[in-house]
Amino acid sequence: MNILETKDLHHDFSGLKVLFGIDLQVEEGERHAVIGPNGAGKTTLFNTITGTYHPSKGKVFFKGKDITGYKPHKLARIGMGRSFQITSTFTRLTAFQNIRLAILAKHGIRFNLFRYVDKMKDITRETEIMLERVNLINERNVPAGLLSYGKSRALEISMAMATDPELILLDEFAAGMSRDETHNAVAMIRKMTEGKTVVIIEHDMDVVFSLADRITVLHYGKILATGKPDDIRDNQDVKDAYLGDLHV
Ligand SMILES: Nc1ncnc2c1ncn2[C@@H]1O[C@H](COP(=O)(O)OP(=O)(O)OP(=O)(O)O)[C@@H](O)[C@H]1O
Ligand SMILES: [Mg+2]
Repeated sequence: MNILETKDLHHDFSGLKVLFGIDLQVEEGERHAVIGPNGAGKTTLFNTITGTYHPSKGKVFFKGKDITGYKPHKLARIGMGRSFQITSTFTRLTAFQNIRLAILAKHGIRFNLFRYVDKMKDITRETEIMLERVNLINERNVPAGLLSYGKSRALEISMAMATDPELILLDEFAAGMSRDETHNAVAMIRKMTEGKTVVIIEHDMDVVFSLADRITVLHYGKILATGKPDDIRDNQDVKDAYLGDLHV
């Protein structure tokens, strides 16, 4: 079954056409990579799926339900989470406080102070479990802005995971990471997303080919190919347009 599907999705920025009829299909439980050159429209695709932009045409389906134009908080409630290409933690808040915010949002706790106090112990425990899982327990009280780059991306991924999504979209989680940081992040993503569906946008072909069950190649706003890693590697159109002589 497809957990996520887009049908004939188009997007343009005041006349600049960026997506031309994208039919993306993501199967439940798979790790799916979206690859393609800079400017191909990958982030725009995520943004139209997750409600940052309303597509100029076409529809987005999550578990068969039309969710076109749903806003991020509503998507989080129904089981979709995402991270951003640019780090988006709250730099002055500690790792603990950042994750707690995400967990509070999941529980929908806002201004009801009595319920808030009542639940705070559970929330603290849940936050600490998440800190342990992402290997940030030693950085519990460190402001996000002072974390190493790799740790701050790990924090961001854990915030996306804190809402316990069934489907998670990660935009270039490894960008700017060192080899070691990338290696750790891949291991963390494997561990944390077990049994879930993941869509990653990624330029690092080592990451793509080690993580993805299937790959979609985007080129000038169109899908050039979708398939298993071996099929993509051998696809002549993909080689010509993108992989070229990357020797993957
Ligand atoms: N907010 C915006 N306003 C106008 N044009 C935009 C906007 N966002 C993206 N674009 C343009 O849309 C095209 C696709 O951009 P997008 O960011 O989706 O590409 P991408 O595949 O994610 O690239 P990268 O690999 O560099 O992140 C580019 O030509 C970009 O300049
Ligand atoms: Mg992008």
